[in-house]
Amino acid sequence: MAYRYPPLARKLHWATAALVAVMIGLGFWITWFEPKNATLKFALYDVHESTGVLVFVLVLARLLRRMANPPAPLPSTVPKLVRAAAHANHLLLYALLLLQPVLGFLATNAWGFPFRWARLIPFPSPVGKDEALAPVLSDLHLAGAILLLLLIGAHLGGAFFHGVIRRDGVVQRML
Ligand code: HEM
Ligand code: HEM
Repeated sequence: MAYRYPPLARKLHWATAALVAVMIGLGFWITWFEPKNATLKFALYDVHESTGVLVFVLVLARLLRRMANPPAPLPSTVPKLVRAAAHANHLLLYALLLLQPVLGFLATNAWGFPFRWARLIPFPSPVGKDEALAPVLSDLHLAGAILLLLLIGAHLGGAFFHGVIRRDGVVQRML
């Protein structure tokens, strides 16, 4: 029987994929097309920030689940180089999916906005208002988003390679 990721792993994969797509769209919306209406603007910031924290938690859950039940190796027909590239891609995706929300959270802090998850649960402000640090953290958050987009692009390229060119059943592992 060909290996398939367990149902929880697949659900978490697709939930994070959908949320990350929404996060990137929202992030560019609030910075590049900042709404004039202040209520809408702050609502979009709140949704972006709280959803970003949710992504962090979901990714952590994915990693813990993966440690408890690691996936089967890729089929032996997958070339060594492709295997290494996929491994590096997944590793970097996980690292960035954890780092990006932390950078966003610290940037929010440094701009002087204490964070309340879903406007309900107050988070401590580890950096506090810092006008020198804030733009640096925002730049890193932008760089993180660009890197994430590149990694997702490579990931989609991999899915296309396996699903359309090789038809080797790898995409089916996550469906
Ligand atoms: C997977 C998680 C996240 C992704 C993919 C993401 C993505 C983005 C993107 C693409 C931008 C636009 C960047 C620019 O044009 O400068 C942005 C801006 C922003 N994000 Fe996030 N973000 C994430 C998590 C968070 C979190 C958790 C927070 C805060 C708690 C946050 C706070 C902000 C803020 C305040 C901005 C406005 C610009 C700035 O100060 O950097 N983000 N985000
Ligand atoms: C924002 C979008 C996405 C993110 C962040 C993402 C992230 C990841 C990560 C971190 C893994 C590693 C899973 C593990 O072994 O623990 C993975 C696996 C996988 N992803 Fe995605 N993914 C995204 C979108 C997609 C899309 C659109 C497809 C399209 C078919 C896809 C197909 C797959 C497949 C087939 C695997 C399993 C590869 C294997 O069996 O080793 N992903 N994804």
